[in-house]
Amino acid sequence: MAKTSSSSRKPTRSSQRNKTTMSKPKYEEVTDVAHEEESTQVSRGEESTQVSHEEESTQVSRGGKRKNNSASGASKSKRSRPELGSKTSPFKSESEDVGVLGGDGSGCQKTPSKLKVTRRAVHGNGKEEQDARFIGEPVPDEEARRRWPKRYEGVEQKQVVSKNSKDENDSEIIQARRHYTQAEVDGRVLYNLYADAHVKAEEGQDYYICKIVEMFEAVDGTLYFTAQWFYRARDTVMKKLGHLIDKKRVFFSEIQDDNPLDCLVEKLIIAKVSLNVDLEAKKKMIPCCDYYCDMLYLLPYSSFINLSPEDKTNCSEASSTISSDDINSVNEEKSQYEEASQASNNKKSQVTLLDLYSGCGAMSTGLCLGANMAGLKLETRWAVDLNKYACESLKWNHPETEVRNESAEDFLALLKEWERLCVLFSLLKSENLEKQSFNPFGMEDDGDDDDNEEDDTEGDVFEVEKILALCYGDPKKKGERGLHFQVRWKNYGPEEDTWEPLEGMDDCRECLKDFVTHGFNSKILPLPGDVDVICGGPPCQGISGFNRFRNKENPLQDEKNKQLKVFMEIVEYLKPKFVLMENVVDIVKFAEGFLGRYALSQLIHLNYQVRMGMMAAGAYGLPQFRMRVFLWGARPTEKLPQYPLPTHDVVVRGVIPLEFEMNTVAYDEGQKVELETKLLLEDAIADLPAVGNYEHQDEMDYDKDPQTEFQRFIRLRKEEMPGSSPKAKPAKHLLYDHRPLELNVDDYQRVCQIPKKKGANFRDLPGVLVRDDNKVEWDPNVERVYLKSGKPLVPDYAMSFIGGSSSKPFARLWWDETVPTVVTRAEPHNQAILHPEQDRVLSVRENARLQGFPDYYKLFGPVKERYIQVGNAVAVPVARALGYALGLAYQGVPSDEPLMKLPLKFPNIIERISSESSEDNS
Ligand SMILES: C[S@@+](CC[C@H](N)C(=O)[O-])C[C@H]1O[C@@H](n2cnc3c(N)ncnc32)[C@H](O)[C@@H]1O
Repeated sequence: MAKTSSSSRKPTRSSQRNKTTMSKPKYEEVTDVAHEEESTQVSRGEESTQVSHEEESTQVSRGGKRKNNSASGASKSKRSRPELGSKTSPFKSESEDVGVLGGDGSGCQKTPSKLKVTRRAVHGNGKEEQDARFIGEPVPDEEARRRWPKRYEGVEQKQVVSKNSKDENDSEIIQARRHYTQAEVDGRVLYNLYADAHVKAEEGQDYYICKIVEMFEAVDGTLYFTAQWFYRARDTVMKKLGHLIDKKRVFFSEIQDDNPLDCLVEKLIIAKVSLNVDLEAKKKMIPCCDYYCDMLYLLPYSSFINLSPEDKTNCSEASSTISSDDINSVNEEKSQYEEASQASNNKKSQVTLLDLYSGCGAMSTGLCLGANMAGLKLETRWAVDLNKYACESLKWNHPETEVRNESAEDFLALLKEWERLCVLFSLLKSENLEKQSFNPFGMEDDGDDDDNEEDDTEGDVFEVEKILALCYGDPKKKGERGLHFQVRWKNYGPEEDTWEPLEGMDDCRECLKDFVTHGFNSKILPLPGDVDVICGGPPCQGISGFNRFRNKENPLQDEKNKQLKVFMEIVEYLKPKFVLMENVVDIVKFAEGFLGRYALSQLIHLNYQVRMGMMAAGAYGLPQFRMRVFLWGARPTEKLPQYPLPTHDVVVRGVIPLEFEMNTVAYDEGQKVELETKLLLEDAIADLPAVGNYEHQDEMDYDKDPQTEFQRFIRLRKEEMPGSSPKAKPAKHLLYDHRPLELNVDDYQRVCQIPKKKGANFRDLPGVLVRDDNKVEWDPNVERVYLKSGKPLVPDYAMSFIGGSSSKPFARLWWDETVPTVVTRAEPHNQAILHPEQDRVLSVRENARLQGFPDYYKLFGPVKERYIQVGNAVAVPVARALGYALGLAYQGVPSDEPLMKLPLKFPNIIERISSESSEDNS
């Protein structure tokens, strides 16, 4: 899989329906395919399926961005503000909707290196002012040539020299006569080299903010300074969500431009501040300053990373380029020390994962497998989901996990109550939580209460034997939300267990104390600091294309998108070391990417390092495309994880949104890579036993040996799976969930008449004619055929689906094909889901295979629910690849590049680097 890189490339839309591979994307070819495919494939319930023509027509150029796609590439990536006459300047105004890609609509970037922001241009008064000058001695010639060699390459009088670059935007370097280290502008302001300054912008716009990293006189006598820019939040990918960020907070970049000296306006104090997830502590660290800066903003993968003096802010030859006072230097040293000890701590113990909106647990399963393969003992300790069947599945497959079947918002409320309980019983000291403020029993002391429960109880009818569980909510359905405990009553059995509110439990404080103490020790719930990694895919149904009442102005006000906020609140409360958020691509498409920008901004607000990438599941060895957005977050003391580059070629399906196209995790076009051949349906499912529409068995034996590498791998037993926990006990080797959604009699009879050949669908049934424009119509010469039930063989909805142009209804998949996205429903009415050679839809297991679930992963609930769990899942191979990257980052494996290569043949590595060996080493 690779990206295009030519800035001049302007793909046009065409109606070709050719499949293309990720290694040579031809975006012009996929949009129309997407229109139909995406509009019929619905997953998670929130995936937008209606691609408007407006959206499609935005599929223009990739804008030559790929060459910038390295950590240092940001310096070549350009933003643009409206032109100043014929001039350009480096920042984009909010009104321009160009964003990360920038550009002028042609897909090409404006060129800050050609920046000519003159005072005349800014003021438009036609008066040349010459009150800017360099002062002091010039930098000795030899030293200047050594420090800025490119400025001295040209022949004496030549003004500019072409860079050896294909990017015409970067093609000229202004040649220097001499360099200086001090300048005076307006006859009064003295600027030293590496000072921070405001720079003129066009009228009505805020000044630009820069660090002066060079001062030189050009060979034609013009005086220049080179600006390395700071970005305000709103000028970054955050755009209008930048309001979530403190106004004084700016982000240093690697983008530099040459500007006439007289564009300098005033000197600034920009304080360098350490990132700190303790927002209050950080506030105290900010000294008196014009702005403060704590992060480097790099365009590739919209990355915001920790600022470290040597690596990140070293523009040119500066030893320290951002003003910092003593407090902050000390702070920085402390954080570096913390970082070192953190990295060594990270190597030792079991690492805990909380899976939010866990579904049946595919994402966390993959993450743990991958992380373990990288030598990190990651385990899903807690999982939360509203769906009881999904929870059942997760629990069966991960008996070690505390699975909580409740809403994420109730889970968060519960966590807060739990912390108070732990403080109440003196298990935890908390500066923030006063015991007094949470004292439901009016306790005087530390809970050392040997009150006789019976003394306080009148009537004494019921006595609590044991507290079994707790939850936040309204389990008694009495309209009373709050903390409740599940109680086993003395002399009564489990069938008499009840949920009781905290307030009614003052007679059984000892029982409560025992329960809380035991729960605290066994960590039934995480307290702040207990969770190392949070992963989750908060549902955002408010952006679904099927939702006619989508709130485009502020999608966060839509109740259906509320979970994104809840997810961030849980992160804020628990402050994990790492965060991985997954979502549908629509979060960066809908309402100009509002929700995607919100998620990113919110993590930055919480002082997490962040980057955003889009990954196609098929690129990790599956016969489906399935593009999803993944957002990494890492605390300042940690390495920000990378994105694992694809291992497999894949058939590109669907729309890749333009603005975030450069966030696609892919190789550069032209880069030589040997990807494994793309997977096809046959590779994934051909070894499975034949079953019929009425198959009811949940478990059966395999009847064939595996035929392909994929089949051999997916059939590994749990204890054989690379990265699986050593605790995994040898399991029975049965095939689970190989049963299809049972079609009703009418549909079954229709399916039986669809020929068993490639491309077959309802159009092959009697009475359907296909016109030259590829639309269907009734054949006037054929009488309509009816089923025994009296219903027509060819239903009307099949004829009218997408204006009669679709071949999806009752379509068979074929062995040499792939699917766009495995979805949550299995009805064959508007999607190709029929088995190539059997008269049924793909079984739950076959769908699970397309999602990369190991065969040992058993699912629970009615068959329809199992399809939902599978269709909702993060494809396991993608999660596993991300887990591997997480494992490396967690252990401090140093790399600031946004992308990494997985080991050869990953994950099918026979030689296990599993937790067993890492245990030996620890
Ligand atoms: C996209 S699925 C997650 C899939 C999962 N990450 C995986 O890989 O298997 C979203 C899940 O969110 C759950 N959900 C929806 N609203 C919820 C809420 N308010 N609280 C907790 N879970 C919720 C749904 O039941 C669904 O299982």
